[in-house]
Amino acid sequence: MKLLAVLLQAGLSQAGLRFACSQVSIQRLDPIVEPGRVPSTHVHQIVGGNAFNASMAGDIGEQASCTTCAYTEDLSNYWTAVMYFKHENGSYKRVPQYPNAQLGTEGKDAPNIQGGMTVYYTQKDFNNNGKSFIRAFPPGFRMTTGSPSANTLDAAKGHPGLRYTCLQTVLTRGSETPDFPAKPCPAGIMAIHHFPACWDGKNLDSPDHQSHMYSTIKGGFQEAGACPSSHPVRVPQVAYETMWDTSVFKDMWPKDGKQPFVWSFEGNGYGTHADYLFGWKGDSLQRAMNSTCMFHACGSPGVQGVLKTQTVEEMNKCAVKSTVVEETDGWLRELPGHMAPMAFKA
Ligand SMILES: *[C@@H]1O[C@H](CO)[C@@H](O)[C@H](O)[C@H]1NC(C)=O
Ligand SMILES: *[C@@H]1O[C@H](CO)[C@@H](O)[C@H](O)[C@H]1NC(C)=O
Ligand SMILES: *[C@@H]1O[C@H](CO)[C@@H](O)[C@H](O)[C@H]1NC(C)=O
Repeated sequence: MKLLAVLLQAGLSQAGLRFACSQVSIQRLDPIVEPGRVPSTHVHQIVGGNAFNASMAGDIGEQASCTTCAYTEDLSNYWTAVMYFKHENGSYKRVPQYPNAQLGTEGKDAPNIQGGMTVYYTQKDFNNNGKSFIRAFPPGFRMTTGSPSANTLDAAKGHPGLRYTCLQTVLTRGSETPDFPAKPCPAGIMAIHHFPACWDGKNLDSPDHQSHMYSTIKGGFQEAGACPSSHPVRVPQVAYETMWDTSVFKDMWPKDGKQPFVWSFEGNGYGTHADYLFGWKGDSLQRAMNSTCMFHACGSPGVQGVLKTQTVEEMNKCAVKSTVVEETDGWLRELPGHMAPMAFKA
């Protein structure tokens, strides 16, 4: 009987996805907060489907033809600001990104994931996929989390899902801070963005791109609280991890000891934020959420699970032709768009 109860519980539980996406684009576009504006106010690093552009409407799952993510049916776009190193001499250089060590390795001679992010769709917490019904997002759905205008430690502390980890090694986890780590981090800085997982069940977006959602996040990958009656629909808990290789600047640390990193909106660490634009094909995300797989068992590059996967080589082939053509990479005298007024709020 005990075994049967366990099996029944297992039968009710839902999937947890954790997968890598290579970079699809780095440019100044923001189809959620500044739709149609070319260029947008600050540089973003974007992963996912190749339908990414200044304006994005309708069912993205029907518009994109490839994705840089491990799951071929995931044509969504995921993006954050870009981290820059600010040299004592006033010049900026983009901090390179590197992939999570545990995803996408297919042997030492195989191509590696290019930059990008790790994306999560969990239900309960990191280790357990729970057993309540998780409704996939509908086509056209979008949201943001955090705010580039947050500029105090208290504001940053008020967002338990938005944190940094100072990486001692590529595998360091835990010990999260609401601001950029104050000291050099041997393996770089991991930026963590958790989105709210309670939806009002009606609106695909809202004027501030956030009020159609409600966050019950407690921090880390701890189990979130119950959804309130204003936002009763539990949707997947989406989270991003971005690994920024700040170690390449270790010999240029400023003499005054202050940490030298800024976000692309000339922001300190408090204003960290992220954007999500749903684009899974058909009912593929619901199919995954209805299954019982966890992480690698759902499929990983080249290994089929409940979701169709592709190899790292195929992930890396998907690209978006930049609409905004400007230097974002070399040593820059100012951040791209920094001279433009900060005309947006998020
Ligand atoms: C992106 O949109 C611009 C107009 O804003 C258009 O000229 C361009 O072709 C689009 N790019 C793609 C890849 O669809
Ligand atoms: C600042 O230092 C970097 C690294 O040495 C150098 O490449 C860049 O040209 C310098 N910028 C200025 C304005 O001197
Ligand atoms: C997911 O599960 C729900 C509830 O059991 C069911 O109504 C729906 O058809 C399922 N969807 C898919 C795509 O499996």
